[in-house]
Amino acid sequence: MDNTNGDIALAIFRTPELEDKENSAARLRIETLGASIDRVASEAADRAEVLHGLAQPQKTLPAKYFYDARGSQLFEEICGLPEYYPTRTEAWILDRYAVEVADATGPCELVELGSGSSTKTRALLDAYRNLGGALRYVPIDVSRTILTESAKQLLRDYPTLEVRGAVATYDRALAALSFKFAPTDLPSRMLVFLGSSLGNLTLEECDRFFGQVRGFLDAGEYFLLGVDLHKSTAQLDAAYNDSRGVTAAFNLNMLAHLNRRFGADFDRANFQHRAFYNEGDRQIEMHLRCLHSHEVQLGDRRFAFTEGETIRTEISRKFDVDAVRAQLDRYDLEPVNIWRDPQGWFASILSRRRVR
Ligand code: AVI
Repeated sequence: MDNTNGDIALAIFRTPELEDKENSAARLRIETLGASIDRVASEAADRAEVLHGLAQPQKTLPAKYFYDARGSQLFEEICGLPEYYPTRTEAWILDRYAVEVADATGPCELVELGSGSSTKTRALLDAYRNLGGALRYVPIDVSRTILTESAKQLLRDYPTLEVRGAVATYDRALAALSFKFAPTDLPSRMLVFLGSSLGNLTLEECDRFFGQVRGFLDAGEYFLLGVDLHKSTAQLDAAYNDSRGVTAAFNLNMLAHLNRRFGADFDRANFQHRAFYNEGDRQIEMHLRCLHSHEVQLGDRRFAFTEGETIRTEISRKFDVDAVRAQLDRYDLEPVNIWRDPQGWFASILSRRRVR
């Protein structure tokens, strides 16, 4: 075949759609961090953690088991509920102040922990695009599906964006990511942790997390943190007991996930969603309340449940800005600026890793 024919063939087969696709594919890379880690060992550790939680006087289950495919879908639905104010309030703050964030940091590679659908991140991408220079985004999520789908959408909407996603837990990402993706050709990085997911960590876990953030960031790099603030018990209770029952379905879905993952025989019909604000500990608690006494088998272990007892599935701590600022500062994360919504429901805190 001569050259001319080859060119013609190429012209026929390379439609604009195909070119767009190829161009997007070249700007996307997704890796699984820790894929080489011994799967059998990590499976055993996960099972041991679940068994340990169920053997406690207050039975507990790790909140990470909310997020199978169905759970992630339900969580996206929760974010759109009228009672669940955090998502739209934080989105309002970011839409309004992303330009100030970008002005404060200058050009940055954005690294987002728990990126999910990346919807709120778009305000930041818009602001950093307007700064000029390369537009780089490193979303990190435990779900490859949601990571890939949202990355593809972003690549269609931001023609100069490069995405290098990582399928990983927070722990693993903070320990291994700088090693994987550095050095960056942008002058700085900003680690982004939105949605007040910090609230799902205990105070001790939070300390450990901030220690990991300190280790992850180089001196002078930034950390943007979204936190849900204290407010009336009525407003908080409503946000976690929505009238459409989506939060209840999200909570109960964890049992189906555990059945699949560990071969347990939880019957969702034996449990009921319960969420309340614990004013003393300043945290929402989500529980699954047992409706009548029965036993549940998980592997070779049986667990007795009595009527009325609960499994705690999540805490969602609510914050005081000054306390978070002081805690960040203890981990060499100096506050740069804080943005709030007019009602004072939510705050976005920008801090910078101290230059020693
Ligand atoms: C992911 N996380 C910040 C949510 C929260 O509000 O603590 C999870 C959630 N649980 C029930 N509704 C939403």
